[in-house]
Amino acid sequence: MNETRRAVLAALADGPVTGPDLADSLGVSRAAVWKHVEALRDDGFDVQSVDDGYTLTGVPDYGGAAVAFELDADFDVEYHDALPSTNDRARELAADGASDVAVIADRQTGGRGRRGREWSSPSGGVWMSLVLRPDVPPARVPLLTLAAAVAVTDAAREAGVDAAIKWPNDVIVPDAGDDSGRGGAKLCGVLTEMEGEASRVSWVVVGIGANVDVDPDELAGDATSVRAEVGDVPRRAFVQRVLERFDELRSDPAGIVDAWRERAATLGERVRVETTDGDIEGDAVDVTEYGALVVDTEDGERVVHAGDCQHL
Ligand code: BTN
Repeated sequence: MNETRRAVLAALADGPVTGPDLADSLGVSRAAVWKHVEALRDDGFDVQSVDDGYTLTGVPDYGGAAVAFELDADFDVEYHDALPSTNDRARELAADGASDVAVIADRQTGGRGRRGREWSSPSGGVWMSLVLRPDVPPARVPLLTLAAAVAVTDAAREAGVDAAIKWPNDVIVPDAGDDSGRGGAKLCGVLTEMEGEASRVSWVVVGIGANVDVDPDELAGDATSVRAEVGDVPRRAFVQRVLERFDELRSDPAGIVDAWRERAATLGERVRVETTDGDIEGDAVDVTEYGALVVDTEDGERVVHAGDCQHL
């Protein structure tokens, strides 16, 4: 949304305001004001004419303009009704030099999960990829993944869901899912991709897949959604909260690991982690400053940087 339209929207939100006053304050013609009001209506904003001017009476449920409206985070929003994968689109933008863009799709037709898995992405979920250009070495990139999991956990908790994080970055509802109550049901996964050199990354794409307003009938076997746990939830507010928390966390990277620990379901659990070098079984005792899992095994402590973790 361009600057003038954003200013028109802000003035209408503070309204009522007359067309001539708005034109004067923004230094544009009345015809231009009218064009912006019509465009906002086309985007789903409800602008009503009252005795003393125009006023904003409704914001669309979802979409790019809706997410960007009153968003208190340093991200531009690019929205699509459908994409094969928001990560793929974010990678294109990153390769073109973009930064701090949140690519959001209502649904994905080729959503990708970790380890080359498919990621079911029906309408109702939050499928979003963040284009980032942090000035850090590759070893610090996992912190951004942890930050995404913390941000989603906080948004889910504020929506009333008893969410926690399974290492490294699955947001789960520990007491949902199978009858053992151990594995929990998955609410969100994060897929981080990057390009760079040994000493410095060029770009990072953090892909967040959160089952927010997903119909329980459309969920995969081990998954849950905010809607399945607590009922209907406004996606716009959820996404805004995720972006705002992520923005706070990335501005204070030293606090990310502690924030992760405070929300972890994995620490203190007996775990099996499938890694490319084989399975590691033991007690999950801590995470390192870069988010690697410390597992106390029969053969002593092992530090695990990547893998699929199961709570036993
Ligand atoms: C996982 O396997 O747990 C990670 C899933 C990540 C899915 C998200 S949805 C938005 C973004 N686009 C994708 O294609 N994948 C990520």
